[in-house]
Amino acid sequence: ETATAPPRGILIAIEGLDRAGKSTQCALLVERLQQSGHKVRLQKFPDRTTTIGTLINSYLTSATDIDDHTIHLLFSANRWELAHSIRTDIAAGVTVVLDRYMYSGVVFSAAKGLDYEYCRGPEVGLPRPDVIVFMDLDEGEAAKRGGFGEERYEVPEVQRRVREMFRMMRGDERDAGDWGVVDAGAEVGVVAERVWGVVERGVEFARGNELRSIQ
Ligand code: TMP
Ligand code: MG
Repeated sequence: ETATAPPRGILIAIEGLDRAGKSTQCALLVERLQQSGHKVRLQKFPDRTTTIGTLINSYLTSATDIDDHTIHLLFSANRWELAHSIRTDIAAGVTVVLDRYMYSGVVFSAAKGLDYEYCRGPEVGLPRPDVIVFMDLDEGEAAKRGGFGEERYEVPEVQRRVREMFRMMRGDERDAGDWGVVDAGAEVGVVAERVWGVVERGVEFARGNELRSIQ
């Protein structure tokens, strides 16, 4: 008698601007996936708990200044140091929800003026999400939600450029078909339904396909 391997987990990335409600939706999504029988792990990027994450945190809180290229590579290194555990979980049947991923990595650095292809290069080979939920919120709505924190990048001009870069990146044919755009400008429960609609596509995709790598 041979034991049947469990179906693999699903890799789901949640992306969007600051104040789009990513963390709230990630929490609701984890709950809903669990209720429908999935084993789930939430992985936040940047993961500030590692040694590299500590450096990233001190940069974001402006405790230290780090050269643009260097911090870019540290954000990427932070994903690479966790890539193995993501692959291991997916193979073992655990669904992994990513609160931000390499798409934030590319757009935030490219929005500063670094070359897009340079920014994307270090991400090639990382586990590729089965689906990316992009939580979209226009600048006006974002401004109404008020209260930027005090971290680096939490300024309107940076957010505006980041939103443009995200729009450009959603047209990148190397990730074609992965994106589902959700209007994040509604009430929490309504947005959660929309997120679930996109996630179901990822669940469907993962049923018939191996986990891919970023190309
Ligand atoms: P957080 O507020 O979600 O913790 O993210 C911290 C900031 O870091 C946010 O402004 C987005 C930015 N960021 C990058 O610049 N590069 C990256 O690779 C990631 C994951 C986030
Ligand atoms: Mg933040």
